[in-house]
Amino acid sequence: MVRWTLGEKVSQLRKVAKAKAQRLWPVPRHAQELNEVRTLADSSNRSTNTTNSGKSNSSSSPEAANAPVHVPVMLQEILEQAQAVREDLQRPLQWAFDGTFGRGGHARAILERHTDLRLIACDLDPAAHASAETNFAKEIRERRLVLHSSNFANLPNLVELARNEFAEKFTGFDFMMVDLGVSSPQLDEAERGFSFYQDGPLDMRMDPQAARRTAADLVNELSEEELVELFSELGEVQRPYKVARAIVHERKSRRIERTLQLAQLIERVDGWHKKGHHPATLYFMGLRLAVNGELKAIEDFLPEAIASLSPKGRLAVISFHSLEDRIVKQCFRKLEDAEEACGENVRRKATVPSDLEQKQNPRSRSAKLRCFRRFAAGERRSRGNKYAHLAPQRSRDDQDDRGDEE
Ligand SMILES: C[S@@+](CC[C@H](N)C(=O)[O-])C[C@H]1O[C@@H](n2cnc3c(N)ncnc32)[C@H](O)[C@@H]1O
Repeated sequence: MVRWTLGEKVSQLRKVAKAKAQRLWPVPRHAQELNEVRTLADSSNRSTNTTNSGKSNSSSSPEAANAPVHVPVMLQEILEQAQAVREDLQRPLQWAFDGTFGRGGHARAILERHTDLRLIACDLDPAAHASAETNFAKEIRERRLVLHSSNFANLPNLVELARNEFAEKFTGFDFMMVDLGVSSPQLDEAERGFSFYQDGPLDMRMDPQAARRTAADLVNELSEEELVELFSELGEVQRPYKVARAIVHERKSRRIERTLQLAQLIERVDGWHKKGHHPATLYFMGLRLAVNGELKAIEDFLPEAIASLSPKGRLAVISFHSLEDRIVKQCFRKLEDAEEACGENVRRKATVPSDLEQKQNPRSRSAKLRCFRRFAAGERRSRGNKYAHLAPQRSRDDQDDRGDEE
């Protein structure tokens, strides 16, 4: 059994910072997965690089189509941003992109309010596609909705597909959004392995068909040192040493294959510190981010997305994790501060859900929305109160934004 002195722990944490993201995440086959695009309802003639695995039973079953609903987070704020583009352009929106289609809550509202719009969308989860086949059949048939099975980081390929299909009609996106993380049906379905309250296989892949390592693979195969790295870096657990050690000890006698097996181990080792906050929360979060290479996907996506916006177009990002939000904030700020800035933040601070929304939908509590607006040709950043003209002010500002400054 490894015992660390304080000095060793400090040097551990230094190593963590150094090794950042390179070795463990994204996990194998990420690059290959990025090239895989399957398009709903037209896989025969428009897909590129179609995967060879068929649909899993769970994804195509009627149960999947009728799985628990997902309440879209900050829907009003998203609609306000789309409407702001409409007013800025003084014409109807033509093209939009939703990189995290889920159950299509945001997509539905956008399609209903902007009737001239075509929405290009994607989601990694086959269950999202099964649900769309039923609930968006008309929009898919009419090609108002073009839904791909793809990582949103694969945006350049998705744009290429849109150009091939719609030729010169495709002029770039007036509005783009991603609503990061997992959907309620993913969390609530024990079989997906995201929940520490329900027993299921320790999987956590957003696309269960993807040949990437599951959470169980990571938990059973990473060294103790690597587990510490993962939990502290991606889960932001302050002292993950005892849990990492206990995992290594436990797996000597049996593999850790189930969500409750891991959750109970963490509970035993760390105990409860905060009422209503399961001790496994951050550990599971770290594993999920690692399994799906989520941070890398966001990093790859953001600059491509901004390059795909039409003049005066906006990109809206809803994140639920401080590491995600930091990537968004830094990317937007970098682009805004560049000598030849191509656009600007719509507001200086992130927007958070209203008190009412947080009460009605507790899962919205950690959400943060940031929006970036692309300049029109020849437009330059406005000086002085540069955000005043851009933002609908209905939602309250994020209170703790400054604590997040680097
Ligand atoms: C929070 S839900 C989105 C819910 C959706 N806005 C709605 O209203 O129903 C996030 C969705 O994004 C998907 N997802 C997460 N990361 C992704 C990625 N990198 N590429 C594509 N889909 C992703 C998940 O599978 C999940 O369905």
